[in-house]
Amino acid sequence: MDKIKMTNPIVEMDGDEMTRVLWSLIKEELIEPFVELNTLYFDLGLKNRDETDDAVTTQAAEAIKEHHVGVKCATITPNAARQEEYNLKKLYKSPNGTIRAVLDGTVFRAPIIVKGIDPYVRSWKKPITIARHAYGDIYKAVEMEAGVGKVELVYTDPFGVEKRETVHELDAPGVVMGMHNMRPSIESFAKACFNYALSTHQDLWFATKDTISKIYDGKFKEVFNDVYEKLFKAEFEKAGIEYFYTLIDDAVARVMRSEGGFIWACKNYDGDVMSDMIASAFGSLSMMTSVLVSPEGNFEYEAAHGTVQRHYYKHLEGEETSTNPIATIFAWSGAFRKRGELDENKELMEFADKLEKACIDTIESGRMTKDLALITSLENPEVKNTQEFIKEIRKTLDGLI
Ligand SMILES: NC(=O)c1ccc[n+]([C@@H]2O[C@H](COP(=O)([O-])OP(=O)(O)OC[C@H]3O[C@@H](n4cnc5c(N)ncnc54)[C@H](O)[C@@H]3O)[C@@H](O)[C@H]2O)c1
Repeated sequence: MDKIKMTNPIVEMDGDEMTRVLWSLIKEELIEPFVELNTLYFDLGLKNRDETDDAVTTQAAEAIKEHHVGVKCATITPNAARQEEYNLKKLYKSPNGTIRAVLDGTVFRAPIIVKGIDPYVRSWKKPITIARHAYGDIYKAVEMEAGVGKVELVYTDPFGVEKRETVHELDAPGVVMGMHNMRPSIESFAKACFNYALSTHQDLWFATKDTISKIYDGKFKEVFNDVYEKLFKAEFEKAGIEYFYTLIDDAVARVMRSEGGFIWACKNYDGDVMSDMIASAFGSLSMMTSVLVSPEGNFEYEAAHGTVQRHYYKHLEGEETSTNPIATIFAWSGAFRKRGELDENKELMEFADKLEKACIDTIESGRMTKDLALITSLENPEVKNTQEFIKEIRKTLDGLI
């Protein structure tokens, strides 16, 4: 069989620890035998980030801007312990944060559904994709402790004109917080959500608490509504999908009774909380995919999980590991599908489908990694180690191609 050709490259970002081990196994066993791989390779492993003073991360993000599709391995976000472990010159920022700052995107996270890994919520049949607004609110808030006295909110416009609101006349010591968001950021979040809903052909839900927070949350509701009416309504109607707004408490209740199969756009804090709830209720963090979508139409795919540090230390000791590669494989298939879509490369898109099917069929046949074997409803699962499991997927893939 001739290998599939790629006209344009994918920006490939290698990473750290156990996922770096998975990265090369996946390429060797599941990709390179079938695809004439055309990537621009950036090594985002912590050692190379340190050697390049983290310039490599920004270069990778700029390359995604140029070529529109990237795939990223999980990377370490260093803390003090890591600084010592890797003898780092300084504590670098999270690579994901740096890339997001360059691309200005929204992160969409969705679980991979397979038979035998059953969601804890019985009604869920299809994935629920969480879109989290990644700017502002409590994450950029200022807060203080205050004693008895008057707390005020003061806005000064560029001409020095002030607008004041009393927050509270405190008659006892307490705490206060001031937070903000900005219309362009909410707008670009809304556009990313509407675009992603169209490109994945799913309904979009959005919820806030605008009955209580009439101005702040009210602004989010208004911006989403404006963007929908002006830019997306006709396309949504044509595609037969729906934009649905409700209160956050109502949304939570409806999500629990739903079948899934939609995108749930969340404000920053709601997204933080709900994405962990969705991930664990669907079964496993190792089965969550993640894609960063920028308003200019750039896409960066990755697994939602981290570098699986504990398995890596075992691997270094020469011990056997059973690390789940599925979300990392789906990061590659997501990138191939998008590259194929943009380049009208049908073969590459079909390969993406087959690669995903090979993963799902392998698990559904009872062969899986330990994390899944612990939660599966299939009887007598066969636990495979990291290398064996990837070879099992290869066997299934060979049968599909
Ligand atoms: N997107 C990213 O690049 C990203 C995301 C989160 C954490 N991290 C980094 O990863 C490192 C480890 O962080 P962590 O331990 O909090 O998160 P982690 O996701 O690596 O692990 C969390 C837990 O889930 C299990 N797990 C996760 N993925 C698994 C898989 N594929 N197979 C089997 N089990 C799996 C782990 O064993 C662990 O118990 C940290 O240095 C952190 O900075 C990176």
